[in-house]
Amino acid sequence: MYVGVDYYPEHWPRARWETDARLMQEAGFNVVRLAEFAWVMLEPDEGRFTFDWLDDALAVLADHGIAAILGTPTAVMPAWVARKYPETLATRDTGARITWGVRKNNCFTSGTYRLLSERITRAMATHFAATPNVIGWQTDNEFGHPKCYCATCRAEFQDWLRAKYGTLDALNAAWGLHFWGHLVGTWGEVQLPVEPGGSNPSALLDWQRFYSWLNVRFQHDQVQILRAAAPDHFITHNCMGLFSDLNYYDLAAELDHVSWDNYPVWGVPRVMGEAAAAADVMRGLKRKNFWIMEQSAGPGGWGSFGRNPWPGELRLVAYQQLAHGADGQIWFRWRTCTAGREQYWHGLLGHDGRPLRRYREAAQTAAEYHRLAPHLAGTTVHADVAFINDYASIWALQIQPGFEGNTYHAALQRYYDAFLRAGVNVDMVPPDADLSAYRIVVAADLHVLPDALAERLAAYVHGGGVLLADCRTGVKTETNLCHDRTLPGLLAAPLGITIEEYDVVPTELTYAIDGTLGACNAHQYVDWITPDGAAVLARYPDAWQLAEFAAVTRNRYGAGAGYYVGTVVQEPAFYDALIADLFATAGVTPLLTPPPGVEVSVRAGDDTTLLFLLNQTQEPKTVALPAGLRDLLAEADAGASVTLERFGVAVYALEKTPDAHHRLERTL
Ligand code: GLA
Ligand code: ZN
Repeated sequence: MYVGVDYYPEHWPRARWETDARLMQEAGFNVVRLAEFAWVMLEPDEGRFTFDWLDDALAVLADHGIAAILGTPTAVMPAWVARKYPETLATRDTGARITWGVRKNNCFTSGTYRLLSERITRAMATHFAATPNVIGWQTDNEFGHPKCYCATCRAEFQDWLRAKYGTLDALNAAWGLHFWGHLVGTWGEVQLPVEPGGSNPSALLDWQRFYSWLNVRFQHDQVQILRAAAPDHFITHNCMGLFSDLNYYDLAAELDHVSWDNYPVWGVPRVMGEAAAAADVMRGLKRKNFWIMEQSAGPGGWGSFGRNPWPGELRLVAYQQLAHGADGQIWFRWRTCTAGREQYWHGLLGHDGRPLRRYREAAQTAAEYHRLAPHLAGTTVHADVAFINDYASIWALQIQPGFEGNTYHAALQRYYDAFLRAGVNVDMVPPDADLSAYRIVVAADLHVLPDALAERLAAYVHGGGVLLADCRTGVKTETNLCHDRTLPGLLAAPLGITIEEYDVVPTELTYAIDGTLGACNAHQYVDWITPDGAAVLARYPDAWQLAEFAAVTRNRYGAGAGYYVGTVVQEPAFYDALIADLFATAGVTPLLTPPPGVEVSVRAGDDTTLLFLLNQTQEPKTVALPAGLRDLLAEADAGASVTLERFGVAVYALEKTPDAHHRLERTL
């Protein structure tokens, strides 16, 4: 089990390195990430490399049993790169070049930048391949931003489109360029879509795909070099959870494992539903456990700072990720820096460098992780429920939300939080995943629905699966044109409904809904659903114009069932009742019913099943426990219940009685 910190030895006098390494070792830390912004310190002039300081820092760390992940340092170009090769700087949509001086300044189609990136990557990989305590690489840092609108990017976009569509007729048709007389007669006439609210939505969607591909290609150049020069090292990247400018499936494809940066401590403490969903997305990228490369270690902020993690909270944040499949965890950062933009992005140590409260809490967590490590080995989350996580729909909804406030993640989180409250793990899967092993598939706001995917979803239901879809599902083709079928298009049969019209609900209005899922209120948007075989689970009793329409439906189709929610409901209780209905239909039985604010997660391997309980509230919470649990932190058999302190956590191993295991398996 790797646990440690992001460390910047280049920020501190050499005389301090030994103290840092000793304090890390005393805390139980065994890994650091280094050098991801240190390009100018490693190559101060073009082609002149100065790796000796990093060799020395690595040696000090090695003396204390600490391994290192090195960043390819291409997220901040040295000043000499910008001066000597100004074309490496990205161009804004106004045509003005970015002024060097922050980070992520570069254009990804600049051949010069790609060559310079390859050179520093090759030099570092060759030099550090044999350093015993270097174990892996992080490519660049948090790919994403800025989009570049230079002439080279435009030419490459045109090439990319030609490779994708082959002919101009195909491009004109795919983008619907007959509209507003936008037909193009040569590839050179294709412009970069610079107006998010005015440019053609199909062009914008492909521009987003192209931009994602550019980042993936840039990473690919580095990955090839790292694999050849340092074949024993792993390669990862620090993704950003629910950040959605890149198709993370594509970015993750070449990595050994995914890492991500988790900063959930802001505002009033509340159940960390987004951090849990993000963890599941990250685990889903490779269907494999992941690492945390950066995690809240203190108040964060670039100008004003956010809340300090309160006692117990750093540990809770870490355990939540462990429970969702983190196999390595690194706090950002070791010591709060005294210079630069991130002076207020606090580390485990303050500006004074003393090992105080946050350090001690991290050390406690590390010690516990090392005790848990033998149990954790070979375990991951296995879920009975899949959420489709689709970047095309995310992007298409950013381009045209349809109704105000409609984002893919808002829709996903409405349903996700209900599964979290019910204590049932979910997988986040790409739209092309094999769904046959799942009892329930949630397709929230699956706005872009190619026919092949609709047919697979229909077949999934017919074969016995339970599908949940909701409003604005299936509106668009893969090139962001509207389907020319009555909604919900090819899902009409599995869902047993038709939708001829829909309506936005003005912000000052809500519509009461009532039915078997309880009395609640709809807002934002309503589909005017006509059941065509589906049972009606909820209606709008008070809205005369909706009298003949359903709000929520359930349809038997083949051996399975299709649910449809045609609105956005204000009350979380509605979603709780809805998924209870799904569980009954799909035969899913939660292992235990947690009290509000307590999160449940299960990791299992061939011989082990681990149950995590996380109290995300500031009051003690008592949880009734199934029989046969061993409390791994207390090193004692568990009783019939446990009382978790505020922000408290517990980890149990399930006794391997066939019956108990079977019961748990049924919930997985
Ligand atoms: C990101 C970056 C870090 C740091 C933090 C805090 O996660 O990867 O380098 O900038 O944000 O701002
Ligand atoms: Zn460019």
